Amino acid sequence: MADAARIMHYVLAVSLLSFVAHAHAQLSTTFYSRSCPSLETTVWEVMKQAVVKEQRVGASLLRLFFHDCFVQGCDGSILLDAAGGEKSAGPNANSLRGFDVIDTIKARVEAKCPGVVSCADILALAARDGTFLLRGPTWKVPLGRRDSTTSNQSLANANLPSSGSSLSTLISTFASKGLSATDMTALSGAHTIGLARCSTFRDHVYNDANINSSFAARRRKTCPRSGGDSHLAPMDVHSSRVFDNSYYQNLMTRRGLLHSDQELFNGGSQDALVRQYSANPALFRKDFVTAMIKMGNINPLTGTAGQIRKNCRVVNR
Ligand code: HEM
Ligand SMILES: *[C@@H]1O[C@H](CO)[C@@H](O)[C@H](O)[C@H]1NC(C)=O
Ligand SMILES: *[C@@H]1O[C@H](CO)[C@@H](O)[C@H](O)[C@H]1NC(C)=O
Repeated sequence: MADAARIMHYVLAVSLLSFVAHAHAQLSTTFYSRSCPSLETTVWEVMKQAVVKEQRVGASLLRLFFHDCFVQGCDGSILLDAAGGEKSAGPNANSLRGFDVIDTIKARVEAKCPGVVSCADILALAARDGTFLLRGPTWKVPLGRRDSTTSNQSLANANLPSSGSSLSTLISTFASKGLSATDMTALSGAHTIGLARCSTFRDHVYNDANINSSFAARRRKTCPRSGGDSHLAPMDVHSSRVFDNSYYQNLMTRRGLLHSDQELFNGGSQDALVRQYSANPALFRKDFVTAMIKMGNINPLTGTAGQIRKNCRVVNR
């Protein structure tokens, strides 16, 4: 009797487990727990040193992961140096940073677990640690992605949103990747950290009406009408080195840096959520984590697809 009950219990447990596995696609937070147990510590140590040296790099790696996932899925394609690849696309060229940190992590991981861990997964972990090191939330990262053998510049130009995007374009760009408007508004909160170049916010501070006038005047001082394209300004006027919810408070006082930022609070469908995030930091952090995990699930290569690159910049020969 007891045995029969135990068997029944076992059968139920197994079918429940396989259901859960299917519900969560193919990635798993324990993917490398046997094949590379030191992985997460290695990523953390390198990220910690890098952020101590330069805080902005935490922001740069978060952005790098976003730009990887939106083009062909989270497959490390952004890391390839090949001519005509994603790195040379408009939103990426002279803009993306932190590739050297990925190289350092990859070299240390290869020394410990050769040929096992993908560049795509290293980037997912580095983005999580960069966020946490700037006092943002942390989360368990589903792993098991493999690396692409291609990188496509025109696909990057077509799939990445630009700072001039309207609210409806932002919503549809994220929807095309399976992300909701709520995910989009929560993920945009990443603009609480890091810096932007004058060329990305010039139009907004000179030509838009929905901007705080003293804020616009301040930004125009270091971002001339012509020239100075690479002059930098903080994405969050209040605290661009700290991952907090002040991004949303800025939007409510019309101090979004990019046109696309202010679109989230300009009388449209996201106004109510911006108000909620500005008043409730815990809700923002919770929704941000949910959306980061969803973004990390965009079209991964798994099983025997793709490869595990030895060097994140080049396809294995
Ligand atoms: C909603 C659409 C988005 C647009 C139009 C957009 C656009 C931009 C632009 C134009 C910059 C400045 C780049 C430069 O001047 O070189 C920037 C920076 C940044 N973006 Fe976004 N972004 C979006 C969403 C996101 C998402 C989803 C994330 C991450 C979850 C993110 C993370 C960042 C970070 C952290 C920076 C600062 C990077 C650094 O300082 O190196 N952005 N973004
Ligand atoms: C890049 O992607 C586009 C759109 O899918 C495709 O038409 C083009 O052939 C690709 N280019 C390369 C070099 O693979
Ligand atoms: C612009 O922002 C400043 C503070 O950042 C505030 O004192 C001022 O009232 C705002 N101006 C307008 C017109 O909203």
